[in-house]
Formats: sequence, structure tokens, C-alpha cells
Amino acid sequence: MGESNTKVIVNSWNEWDPLKHVIVGRADGCCIPPSEPASDPKVPKDSDMRGMHGPRSKESVDKANAQLDYLANLLQRQGVRVDRPEPIDFNQVIATPDWQHGSMFGCQPPRDVILTVGSEMLEASMSYRSRWFEYLCYRPLLQHYYESDPNMRHEAAPKPRLTERSYKLDYLSEDISMDERLDMVAVKNFVTTEEEPLFDAADVLRFGKDLVVQHGFTTNLKGINWLARHFPNHRVHPVNFPGDPYPIHIDATFTPLRPGLIINNPERRLPDDQRSFFERNGWEILDAARPAHNEPPPLCYSSVWLSMNVLMVDEKTCCAEASEVHQLDQLDRLGFNVLPVPFRDAYPFGGGLHCATTDVYREGRCENYFLNCKIEDRLA
Ligand code: GLY
Repeated sequence: MGESNTKVIVNSWNEWDPLKHVIVGRADGCCIPPSEPASDPKVPKDSDMRGMHGPRSKESVDKANAQLDYLANLLQRQGVRVDRPEPIDFNQVIATPDWQHGSMFGCQPPRDVILTVGSEMLEASMSYRSRWFEYLCYRPLLQHYYESDPNMRHEAAPKPRLTERSYKLDYLSEDISMDERLDMVAVKNFVTTEEEPLFDAADVLRFGKDLVVQHGFTTNLKGINWLARHFPNHRVHPVNFPGDPYPIHIDATFTPLRPGLIINNPERRLPDDQRSFFERNGWEILDAARPAHNEPPPLCYSSVWLSMNVLMVDEKTCCAEASEVHQLDQLDRLGFNVLPVPFRDAYPFGGGLHCATTDVYREGRCENYFLNCKIEDRLA
């Protein structure tokens, strides 16, 4: 068979090239898992999530699924092929030889678990025990892509042990103030240790030849170093956002919209030394618009900043949450064709529109968007 007959299923190098094939998560069977060392510091003291665990209500699952289906249908109308993961029974005790945990999480959001870089789909190590087996929901799809596309690379990061050595068990005392918490985050004192490589896929943003990776609660330096060794033809840049008291996943903090343009959460600005790398390569970093809501919806892990968790269909077309009037307005003023998507009922299940998807195919190749990149810019 000649090269021209080769069927390419998997190809995606960045966050903005024309999207042709995507996975959209499902809310079925989603649980609030019991607390564990990784999750405790993430849940604010006054959150309604404190002490909660068990399956989410049927009513909330149905409402989330209706919005996920709406997103899937809208993308299909834009000419995007949409696949969905296969839920398993998340409400069961799971165990490895090292630990046992009361339940799993769900199969929304896929962005947390699967990282697509070029022809590769990589199962992230993950950093929560409750999410250790989540990759199983994506295996039927990844197996199908692997069998259909002779160049597809199905990879999995080393499964972490996630023993107590992977976490600082005394990370937070109950009465820590927000200022103390922010001081800890500013000096990159996070709940995860450097016992073993840990990363969630949603801490990674793809800019062609460059991968930008958030160092925080869910991704440690060993995880970033593992990614740098795993992708030797990429430059891997660790970043951190000192204003984020719960640094988990980069996509409500730093969102590239098109080549040369990023919106950054104004409460979690990129430090100046890291910002200069983008700016001297001609990238503009704008403050994202304020969220339209003062609170996230009930039983939601995420912050109001899911407002900026947008999904680019191409570099001119953007899906954004329908009630986020300020973000819609900013995108409109920046010249995007904005597709409003009602999504707040899906937020509690693990995030916004970027989180709820993972790329299979975007047109385009691996480009170098950072021509003014010095050797010391390869930070990991
Ligand atoms: N880390 C996701 C959020 O801001 O809610």
C-alpha cells in the first residue's frame, strides 16, 4: 500500500488548528470519590464538596449529559466527528497492591486523561487514586484508532504507585489562611512529592514544537521531566501560576486562542520571567474577561474561571459557555466567531468545554511558534 493510501486518524499538534475529530466525555455513573491525600487540599474549607462522596444524582447526570450531547451535536454540525468514551461501573472499590479506594470518578473530562501530540495519544499517569483506572473508558476508542491508523502511537505513562510517599500528608492544616496557602503555592510547595513522575494531561498545552506544562498539585517536576524525555523533539516548558490556590489543570488559567494570542486568568498571572519567553516570540498575553458568576454551580470541583475554558474549533471559531457574557464579549471583540454552548450543568462533572473534550484530529503539522527560543528555554 502506498503512502497516499495510509489512513491518518490521529493528528493534533496544538489547541487551535481546524478540529475534525474529537472525544466528548459522558456523565454516566459519575461519582464524587471519597477523600484521598491528593484531593483534600483541593477542596476549599467552605466548599459543599467537603465530606461528600457517592454517586451523583440521576437528575444531575441527566442534565450534564444533555449539555454534553448538545456540545457533541454542535461540533458535528461544524463538521467534526465525535466519539464518546465507554463508562464503567465507577461506584466500586478499587485497589492495587499498595492501596484501596472507595470509588472511581467518571469519564468526563477526557482532557485530563488523554494527551494527543501529533499521531500519539498518551494515557497520563494521573495523580489521584480515584482516577487510576479512568483510562479504561478510553481504551476501546484508542484501540480502534490504533487498529485503523498504522501510524497511530498508543502510549501510556508509567502507572504511579501513589503510596503515601507520593503526597505530603501534612500539607495543610485545617486552619491555614488563604494568604498562607498562596505563599506555599508561590514557592511551588504543592501537595504532591517528587517520589515518582506524576502528571494529568490537562496540565499540558500544545503549541506545535513546544509543550507548556503547569507544575502544581496534579503534575510534579518528575512528571514534566518524564514528558520532556518522552517527547525528545519537543521543547517542554514548566510554568506555574502563583495566584492559584488550587493549581490543578492549566486550562482555566492560561488559554491559547490562536497563534500569537493567549488569555491569562488575571488572578493567576504568569510570572514575568516565564512571560518574557512568550512575549519575545511575539505572543500577546491578555487578561481574560471576568467570569459572569460569583460561584461555581453546586458540588463543583472547579472555580468560576471555567469561563475561560474555551474550545477552539479553528483559529477563528470558539466554543464558549453560553452564560459567560463577559468572556463571550471579549472573544467577540478579539474577532472570533463565538459559538455559545450551555454547559454549567456539566461543570460539576469535571470542568468546562476544553476539559470535556480531547483531540483526535486537527488539520495541520508541527510548527515552531517560538523562533526566538534559546537553549535555556528548554526548561525541563
Ligand atoms: N483549575 C481549574 C479551576 O480553576 O477551576
